[in-house]
Amino acid sequence: MRLRAPATSANLGPGFDVFGMALKEPYDLLEAEKLPEKVVQLELVEGYPIPLKPEENTGGYVALEMMNDFDIRGGVKFRIWKNIKPGSGLGSSAATAAAAAYAMNKLYDLGLSTQKLVEYAARGELVSAGAAHVDNVASAIYGGFIIISSRNPLRIYSVTPPSDLGVVVVLPDVEKGSTRRAREVLPSSIPLQKLVHNVGAASVLAAGMALGDLEMIKEGMRDAVVEPARSGAGIIPEYEGVRELGRRFGAGIAVSGAGPAVIAVIERERRGKLATALKDFYQSRGYECLVYVTEPGPGVSEF
Ligand code: HSE
Repeated sequence: MRLRAPATSANLGPGFDVFGMALKEPYDLLEAEKLPEKVVQLELVEGYPIPLKPEENTGGYVALEMMNDFDIRGGVKFRIWKNIKPGSGLGSSAATAAAAAYAMNKLYDLGLSTQKLVEYAARGELVSAGAAHVDNVASAIYGGFIIISSRNPLRIYSVTPPSDLGVVVVLPDVEKGSTRRAREVLPSSIPLQKLVHNVGAASVLAAGMALGDLEMIKEGMRDAVVEPARSGAGIIPEYEGVRELGRRFGAGIAVSGAGPAVIAVIERERRGKLATALKDFYQSRGYECLVYVTEPGPGVSEF
């Protein structure tokens, strides 16, 4: 089977480990094929380098876990076109994990629910982030915008984003290191004032998604906790400057997942101008960058 696995943007500002959104571009392509023997094989056909030992690859690990849990006698081979840059904050590891869970379920007729697929895919995140955070994998499987309302037991709500919601993603050419490290720099407790700030922001963002109100979504893209901590640790280059640029354009701006990519939300027809301004901004400060002019998209799908 042939699969398309989308990039995803987690957090969207205040929704750390809670909000996720699937993007139309970029996406990975995968081919999954049953093997008669009980092995997982991975081949990188094209794109960014990734670990190819099954137990070190998010998708390989998910496939191994499913083979064990369901006592599957056969195996699987994945051929991967890795277009989503690993360590970019765009859910590269989640895309492979989500595609692997989806493929195993279909190839071996496991009949798993969408939520169960998310739980398996989340195990893959353990390999790359050291924590089974589900925001990227859940949006990679459900598509659109998702809210993780509870982790244990896992509860996910899926909301279709408004159709006028345009997205610009900028990925500056810097290495942030691992997501694991980007989580280690976070505070373990926060002042009540910051909690109040983030609950207000997250609430208006979620309400904006449900009501189809772009202005509310933009207003909600502000975080007093995680982004400042990561920016302070040097993981998010030019954080203040890029937020200021977003304010000038009337766009919502947030760090995408653990960064260094930044996601901007703006009216679809204004995406092009914002993309140029963001690119110029980073280049003027000495960073080359990739820019994606995109929109919310579907979850893992066959083609
Ligand atoms: N919510 C996760 C984090 C997403 O911010 O660490 C990582 O892509």
